[in-house]
Amino acid sequence: MQVAMQTKLSTKSAVSRRTLRVKAEAAATTTAPPAVKPAEKYGVFRLSYDVQNEDRALTKTWKKTVKVAVTGASGNIANHLLFMLASGEVYGKDQPIALQLLGSDRSIGALEGVAMELEDSLYPLLREVSIGVDPMEVFAGAEWALMVGAKPRGPGMERADLLNQNGEIFQVQGRALNEAADRNCKVLVVGNPCNTNALIAMENAPNIPRKNFHALTRLDENRAKCQLALKAGKFYTSVSRVAIWGNHSTTQVPDFLNAKIGGLPAVNVIRDDKWFKEQFTPTVATRGGALIKKWGKSSAASTAVSIADAIRALVVPTAPGDCFSTAVVSDGNPYGVKDGLIFSFPCRSKGDGDYEICNDFILDDWLRTKLAATEDELVKERDCVSHLIGRMGGACAIRGVPDTTVPGEN
Ligand code: LMR
Repeated sequence: MQVAMQTKLSTKSAVSRRTLRVKAEAAATTTAPPAVKPAEKYGVFRLSYDVQNEDRALTKTWKKTVKVAVTGASGNIANHLLFMLASGEVYGKDQPIALQLLGSDRSIGALEGVAMELEDSLYPLLREVSIGVDPMEVFAGAEWALMVGAKPRGPGMERADLLNQNGEIFQVQGRALNEAADRNCKVLVVGNPCNTNALIAMENAPNIPRKNFHALTRLDENRAKCQLALKAGKFYTSVSRVAIWGNHSTTQVPDFLNAKIGGLPAVNVIRDDKWFKEQFTPTVATRGGALIKKWGKSSAASTAVSIADAIRALVVPTAPGDCFSTAVVSDGNPYGVKDGLIFSFPCRSKGDGDYEICNDFILDDWLRTKLAATEDELVKERDCVSHLIGRMGGACAIRGVPDTTVPGEN
């Protein structure tokens, strides 16, 4: 009886949430974001660096300045990423950029150090840098939010506790995006567990289209391409159409069935089913952990590169026949994955910031079983954070069970 009531209530609340969401998404195209006081500009950027004041000969082909908010901005990943963003190699050499950097009270000194290095780098396309510790101020008007910051798991901390603690951060930041960011803001969550953190941010930001929320699995795609190239004895630029399905955790599914090497099916080039299933798949899924063992810390440079790749995948048209991997909301997906999860799929883009999930990937029984396992893990993660997303969930079932966790922690 109680279960029936709960199901009824959750169905009802899901329907009303969906109705609210549809209204919000319709409003998103028409309503201007509320005026929120932006964070203070830093140092030399307090001068007016409006592109209008520049020599037209230099800037006449430039687009309107894009506002990009970055969280965890004094961390290792951001230390690579920010300089790539400022150089123009991510959004394009004709795209001036404003960087809005979020730190914490503890990291604000380091964040000033980052801003000083950005000043000293004299990037022509970098028109503004602002720093702050209040997400509302830092997200003001942001057209992109790159959510890199999250707490790492401490010694002896259960994954459920990590989900909860990071979840609270993403709840606050989701609400701030909802209030302050551009209504069509594209959000890319990197901080782990990134799929569920992205879900929390999305569910707390009903003013922003659900479709705009991503969690980073491009890093896994890049790792998979590298392993396929290595096995085939080919350079990695010849590897295409590599999808990562599901969670950015050890249950992720790097897809070799649909992958191509030199335009041919990877399974016809490598012809080693045992290798694909028993070596390729776990190697990709645990690559983050292998790296930590060597490096003593989580991947930072390759993560930053993959964030750049993930952004470029949305602002540059996808090559015919190819795809890119990104974890996005599963609502209405063509593969029968449950709605309401942030699940990695093969996608394509026209280069306008939007994307569609590819609908022509073949699934065999092995892939289907793997997809079901990663989906199940995401459902369990969602249950554990139901209190943060206004949802009636089941009990948190990941306490005390074997930990599949994020790739870096095995
Ligand atoms: C990675 O895949 O390298 C990271 O997600 C690992 C981590 O735990 O930071």
